[in-house]
Amino acid sequence: MVFKNPFGCGAMGVGLSNGDLPLAVLKNGCFATMSSIGLCEFDVNVRTYEDASKEAFIEEIERFQRSADDHLAELLAINVMGKLSNTPSLIKAAVDKGIKMIVYGAGLPNKLPEIVDDPSVNKVPIVSSADAAVLILRMWQRRYPLDGGTFIAPDAFILEGPLAGGHIGLTREQILHPEKYSLEIILGELLEAIRPYEQILGRKIPVIAAGGIWSGADIARFLSLGASGAQLGTRYLATYECPAKDNHKQSLIDLKAEDIVIIDSPVGLPGRVVRNEVVIKAEKNEVAIRCPYRCITTCKVKKAGFCIAHALKSTQKGALEDSLIFIGANGWRIDRIISVAELTEELIAGIEASPLTLPKERYI
Ligand SMILES: Cc1cc2nc3c(=O)[nH]c(=O)nc-3n(C[C@H](O)[C@H](O)[C@H](O)COP(=O)(O)O)c2cc1C
Repeated sequence: MVFKNPFGCGAMGVGLSNGDLPLAVLKNGCFATMSSIGLCEFDVNVRTYEDASKEAFIEEIERFQRSADDHLAELLAINVMGKLSNTPSLIKAAVDKGIKMIVYGAGLPNKLPEIVDDPSVNKVPIVSSADAAVLILRMWQRRYPLDGGTFIAPDAFILEGPLAGGHIGLTREQILHPEKYSLEIILGELLEAIRPYEQILGRKIPVIAAGGIWSGADIARFLSLGASGAQLGTRYLATYECPAKDNHKQSLIDLKAEDIVIIDSPVGLPGRVVRNEVVIKAEKNEVAIRCPYRCITTCKVKKAGFCIAHALKSTQKGALEDSLIFIGANGWRIDRIISVAELTEELIAGIEASPLTLPKERYI
């Protein structure tokens, strides 16, 4: 899929890249990712949680499709988290609804080509290293060969670096060593590592860079380094169209750089968040919120200082005292809430003003 602009909005769960945000982003010529995660109320019976969450996700897709024209409806991407207990069923539900792009994060998409057997559906894994990308390519090459020596391969990769908001696929140690693991460095490594597979496939595997990308100049820099596009989260969080509550958005305007920290999420990954009371309690090994759901297969329920599902649902509701507030490392730069159109114009102007030589070919 090729969009007018080489950037767009990443998924923001729980519920923060839903509502009117994806449509506004698509209308402005950029790719947009809807989150599939935690869209139902979490106070449903634990046993019915999986069904309730799938139904709420389907309703959200249908709501989007009612407001989008057919062309835009075809362009919507949806995001799933590999660690959720009902991931395959969410993917199948989305494909049944006509979704043509599945963005798979937080886990290796070992069986994605089996779950999605429709070749017209784009399969886009999120990775944080060249090794992870090669692991996926090798696995799919072995499991899903095609005639002529090719195989079912990812349609693109999203490469999320150490400055990203939300869960991060690097270790805490790697995040703290940007001189070895910056997005620029891991992008170069990944582009080189996937080249032999591009030769086998006879096509480009576009790479979308993500994490800490703030301005058009940043996007231009990653394009000049070989990325085919850029994915932004935090910038879209601070837009009118983002369904985050006003008190949540307002709290972001007041952030200072030191308010943004890395935590060990119960999911088993580091995450970048605002250091609020929930985080401070977790740092002291106090239990702020107990888990009632068991929705994440890798959740360290007994050790967890908070239930991440409950904490993210509270963020969606604006109950900030009970929340885990995901944010990118550059979140302290938010100084006002703007429209998606204004953000898009600002980013395009920044790309156009860049003195760097940008590739002419477009792959996303
Ligand atoms: C509030 C928030 C929630 C996020 N939730 C998800 C998610 O559910 N799934 C996912 O794959 N990425 C998630 N991310 C990561 C974004 O999709 C994106 O890659 C990241 O925010 C890019 O970094 P940036 O915020 O510095 O632009 C989230 C990011 C934020 C800020």
